[in-house]
Amino acid sequence: MNDVASKAKVTVTMDGSNRSAELPLITGTIGPAVADIRKLYADLGIFTYDPGYGGTAACESKITYIDGDQGVLLYRGYPIEQLAEKSTFLEVAYLLLNGELPTAAERTEFDRGVMHHTMLHEQLRRFYDGFRRDAHPMAVMCGVVGALSAFYHDSLDINDPEVRRISAFRLIAKVPTIAAWAYKYSIGQPFMYPRNDLGYAANFLYMMNAVPTVPWQDNEILTRAMDRILILHADHEQNASTSTVRLAGSTGANPFACIAAGIASLWGPAHGGANEAVLKMLAEIGHVKNIPDFLARVKGKDGHARLMGFGHRVYKNYDPRAKIMQQTCHEVLAELGIQDDPLLDLAQELERIALSDDYFVSRKLYPNVDFYSGIILKAMGFPTSMFTVLFAVARTVGWISQWREMIEDPSQRIGRPRQIYTGAAQRDYIPAERR
Ligand code: ACO
Repeated sequence: MNDVASKAKVTVTMDGSNRSAELPLITGTIGPAVADIRKLYADLGIFTYDPGYGGTAACESKITYIDGDQGVLLYRGYPIEQLAEKSTFLEVAYLLLNGELPTAAERTEFDRGVMHHTMLHEQLRRFYDGFRRDAHPMAVMCGVVGALSAFYHDSLDINDPEVRRISAFRLIAKVPTIAAWAYKYSIGQPFMYPRNDLGYAANFLYMMNAVPTVPWQDNEILTRAMDRILILHADHEQNASTSTVRLAGSTGANPFACIAAGIASLWGPAHGGANEAVLKMLAEIGHVKNIPDFLARVKGKDGHARLMGFGHRVYKNYDPRAKIMQQTCHEVLAELGIQDDPLLDLAQELERIALSDDYFVSRKLYPNVDFYSGIILKAMGFPTSMFTVLFAVARTVGWISQWREMIEDPSQRIGRPRQIYTGAAQRDYIPAERR
């Protein structure tokens, strides 16, 4: 971070008074400059107002960069397209956590280090019996990930760097097991214990799909597609769930509790729940001929209908992840021998019509990462309720990287926003008989 206060600043003057405040301008490596408003309240007695934080930098970070207008996404400086094509999820995890790509030796050690932790404490297995069979797997994720805090008392001292390292490994390794077991529990099949001889993505597909009675056959194309989906979802700067993790972590809460908070935040349909919502929307539209009626409802804002999988708080251009998803979608459908998928046809037609419709064009609403991911996951046999869970598996790496960065940042303070109070002014209590 470059504090260029001596050269550049923003001066805020209060109308009708001679009071003003000088706000230093801070620049990062790339991206817009940021006015440091910390002294605004002290100097002028005013807060800033930014609901949804669309214009607020809440922290300094070296992890992920997004240029929403250009449709650029970089992890530690590397374009997402290059990582999706050339890297693997665990290598990306190393990159996000440590800042640099690993050497071959570092990578082997890291892969082994993470995979070593894939098993769950056997007592944690019994937690699943406490859930209804029809519980949403995200409810199970929130509960079981939060419960990890009760099993790793040696990993709760967040001020110890070694504790932070091992917690990161544990979370990244165990989240796929927790997720796959949530699914197995819901369908009444035996839990499959992790296999560390398989890679990260292959092991996840194994725990999801294998049964003890039939030999498991790994599929290279599907494993690669899963690995790519994990890479695309690994981090995305200060989105709602990551900010939730940082806010929870700013209080000194343990990492397992913080990641559970992130999972809860991700669950909403405006965030990680969107790919599930896309499939529901496509099913509701049903046929290409119904698209105009559906879009008319969206544009008329009837019942808050939205074109799910479209629009993004930051991207005002094509989400670069959506392009890779679209390509992966074709690869997966070809591998599975699905020549004509009515859902894909419907999605492509919907995209084509929306991208030429003035309502979406003028608001810069483009497909986001979730528009195609649901179709891929459905083709791979994932039930819709598991879509957001898969997102949580991938994002755990981003959350834990951001959490570690926050803890190691000397300027970190407890997150404590202020408000514009619009409730009643001070008044006296009135006894019930006089109200
Ligand atoms: N369909 C129809 N209209 C939309 C959509 C949409 N998907 N998204 C935004 N708009 C409209 C809004 O109604 C608003 O129109 P108005 O100016 O006439 O009132 C305008 O575009 C701006 O929308 P905001 O809600 O202010 O945009 P915001 O940045 O707050 O929302 C969000 C971003 C939540 C992602 C939104 O675009 C949305 O709900 N999309 C659908 C859900 C979705 O796909 N979420 C996944 C996001 S990616 C991720 O989390 C991995």
